[in-house]
Amino acid sequence: MKILVTGGLGYIGSHTVVELQNAGYDVVIVDNLSNTHIEVLEQIEKISGIKPEFSKFDLSDYNACINFFNINKDIDGIIHFAAYKAVGESVEKPLIYYRNNIGSLINIMENMNMHNIPNLVFSSSCTVYGQPDELPVTEKAPRKTAMSPYGNTKQIAEDIISDTVYASSMKAIALRYFNPVGAHETALIGELPLGVPNNLMPFITQTASGIREQLSVFGEDYNTPDGTAIRDYIHVVDLAKAHVIAVERMLKANNKKNYEVFNLGTGNGYSVLEVIKSFEKVTGLKLNYKIVNRREGDIEKVWAETSFANDELGWKAEKGIDEMTLSAWKFQEKLDKERK
Ligand code: UD1
Repeated sequence: MKILVTGGLGYIGSHTVVELQNAGYDVVIVDNLSNTHIEVLEQIEKISGIKPEFSKFDLSDYNACINFFNINKDIDGIIHFAAYKAVGESVEKPLIYYRNNIGSLINIMENMNMHNIPNLVFSSSCTVYGQPDELPVTEKAPRKTAMSPYGNTKQIAEDIISDTVYASSMKAIALRYFNPVGAHETALIGELPLGVPNNLMPFITQTASGIREQLSVFGEDYNTPDGTAIRDYIHVVDLAKAHVIAVERMLKANNKKNYEVFNLGTGNGYSVLEVIKSFEKVTGLKLNYKIVNRREGDIEKVWAETSFANDELGWKAEKGIDEMTLSAWKFQEKLDKERK
């Protein structure tokens, strides 16, 4: 069986490619390298022993997409990661986000229709819930008006997929990720944002390694036990494994509906200060941080109800917060060694 992984050289994509290969799938990657490096391809090969097929182009380019699917006629399923994901940037450049995130999805789904490729796994986000009224948040919770164009692209994409599935013989699973962090145990792949990181974990590791001077903790006046915001951090390898299970569920026709949605989190919430404490504990390092104002658009707290994914997919996140912070640090240490 061959799986197309779009954005397969990115952070979650690369970990998923490795898990697909471990499970015996052939993989073809499409990536435009807009937020990653070509070296990730070699790193994947070092881990799995198999070099995946790779094609570099932009999926929002209609003609390039048509050409790719005309040549690659043996694809059994698609895992679609390729998208922009910086919340702040999406507020400044909304059209770039809509064109890229929505345009590429439409191109892919049109080609799925043309070539009878039946199975799609889509990278969605817990951002579709906004600040939920009830915690833990279940898949049935209403989606709130998106706080950013990025968040809106995830909601619109879910709607495009469910409408298309309804009107065709296609099957799709949207996976709503909570906060993916950590790195592969080999430290060969991990989160490697270009430029200044937006997300907490790479900012922590880059501060500890001296690349950034100080971590800003955004707000300590939230209605949480220590005043800092709470998220459901999930190890990227746990997340990657869920994608293999999701695509297999459709390939084996075990899906209950043609369009299904699952939360992917651990079910545990950690505050920003708790994440910092875990990092300091497992590394023995002292992190230079200061409390600053809240970041615009951030919600107070969110964590997942995971029982639907646990029961239906037979999947459960296995790694705890200390494994997440330690693996993120080991990846950073390896990068630092290579730079010297
Ligand atoms: C955001 C998006 C999420 C998206 C993810 C990917 C929302 C609500 N969430 O997650 O959908 O998939 O980005 O990029 O839009 N923090 C600091 N200092 C920092 C960085 C972060 O204190 O330098 C805090 C934040 O305020 C937040 C927590 O750490 O409380 C996690 O932040 P981050 O890693 O950026 O993820 P989210 O904003 O939760």
